[in-house]
Amino acid sequence: MTLRKINVQDAFAQWEYTTALPADENGLTNPYHGVTYDEYVRKVLPELISHEHPVNMPDWFVPESYYYLWDGDNLVGEFRIRHHLTDALRNGAGHIGYSIRKDMRGNGYGTTGLKLTLEIARGIVAEDEIYLRVNKDNIASQKVMLKNGARITGKDKSHYFMRIPK
Ligand SMILES: CC(C)(COP(=O)(O)OP(=O)(O)OC[C@H]1O[C@@H](n2cnc3c(N)ncnc32)[C@H](O)[C@@H]1OP(=O)(O)O)[C@@H](O)C(=O)NCCC(=O)NCCS
Repeated sequence: MTLRKINVQDAFAQWEYTTALPADENGLTNPYHGVTYDEYVRKVLPELISHEHPVNMPDWFVPESYYYLWDGDNLVGEFRIRHHLTDALRNGAGHIGYSIRKDMRGNGYGTTGLKLTLEIARGIVAEDEIYLRVNKDNIASQKVMLKNGARITGKDKSHYFMRIPK
């Protein structure tokens, strides 16, 4: 299994994944649900690639890198790394967001994908620990985090806040 950064060559597979990903699943948001391939290639893909080195973005916008998890020729998941925290991220979504293709879940991809993402994030993230947030009812994602060395450091009404040492 490998993680490949978002790129132009993989546009079709990335589009298939992005357009099928729900607009909001367990707090992971995707404004591009249902986007056409044409729109993805013209607008969405260049925009997502640019998020790593943002230009003309509002002050609150944190650089974000998109990676896709591949098993052979199959794109099975997406992992996003936000490079540093703001107050909103510290008390919210944290550094990393991820999802696995619905029909591929329960095969260990989430756990391995987060492991590979952490290896990259350790070289990017500014803080001493990787911050993550998970819904209290999202048992699968909690297991993915805990199996990658996370500990629970806080909670609110509907989430646990987790951290993984860098
Ligand atoms: C969370 C998610 C990424 C997990 O991916 P995955 O590839 O299914 O994860 P894994 O196969 O590595 O499974 C991790 C653990 O969760 C368990 N699990 C998987 N699906 C489950 C489910 N629906 N209910 C309960 N446990 C589940 C697995 O059995 C495994 O536990 P085990 O190691 O004790 O056997 C995936 O379900 C997903 O994309 N969900 C929607 C988006 C999302 O919730 N993102 C995370 C936001 S914090």
